Amino acid sequence: MNEILNLKNAFKTYGKTQVLKDINFKLNKSEVISLLGDNGAGKSTLIKCLSGLEKFDKAELIINEKKVNLKNYDIKNARDLGFETVYQESSVGLEQEIFRNIFLGREITNTFGFINIKKEQEVSMHLLQNFLGLRGVGINPNSKVSSLSGGERQGLAIARAIYFDSKVIILDEPTTALAIKEVGKVLNFIKTLQEHEKSCILITHNISHAYEVSNRFIILERGEIKADIKKDDISLIELQSKLLTIQNEYQ
Ligand SMILES: Nc1ncnc2c1ncn2[C@@H]1O[C@H](COP(=O)(O)OP(=O)(O)OP(=O)(O)O)[C@@H](O)[C@H]1O
Ligand SMILES: [Mg+2]
Repeated sequence: MNEILNLKNAFKTYGKTQVLKDINFKLNKSEVISLLGDNGAGKSTLIKCLSGLEKFDKAELIINEKKVNLKNYDIKNARDLGFETVYQESSVGLEQEIFRNIFLGREITNTFGFINIKKEQEVSMHLLQNFLGLRGVGINPNSKVSSLSGGERQGLAIARAIYFDSKVIILDEPTTALAIKEVGKVLNFIKTLQEHEKSCILITHNISHAYEVSNRFIILERGEIKADIKKDDISLIELQSKLLTIQNEYQ
């Protein structure tokens, strides 16, 4: 079975606003999908519900062929099922040391239950050197997260997900507000996910970025899925015009 996630008939309201209306989609193993759509379309809300930060009003969620009990579904539950999310408003933990940020909530402990700082620092060094490619640049596991560039911070989150063997990595606008060189780094990190047989849900307003790294595109508009298209079936130009057509229908 290639399917890792199947969401059926998902609804969400905030007060009187219907933010998600009957959302249905599947995600396969080693698949990167981009969630596209205008501001306020419901993209962040959808992934917040999937990652257990918020609750769907009603939905059926199947992960690895097992139906999830949504009543008890929270961030910890989602993590245990293999979901790792990097949120849009993610400036938390900037003053933390890199190794603490990586292992927050999932510390390596020794037989006495104490945190094994040395081991955590070793693993962090390995990730910094081999995944982020930071060799001899004066950054070490004890450096603050804030000493990493924006792109490297996104990379750190992706490296953490790979280290903890997450199955699905969710990234909400990871390239927004980054310089071109940094954007390239993040797109490369996303590409390496498939080599590790991870799946990814990427939210972005940049269609070229989406096109470069995704296998499939889902267009969300006013809380509804308006298109679900494989990359093989559409060119970048066609995708851009499809998105514009859908958005213009709602102006
Ligand atoms: N906590 C909340 N309380 C009330 N309304 C909310 C809340 N979060 C989101 N909304 C509303 O839900 C709708 C969808 O918001 P959401 O953040 O999911 O959009 P988005 O597609 O991620 O947009 P953007 O591209 O601007 O990030 C918006 O109308 C927003 O105002
Ligand atoms: Mg958003």
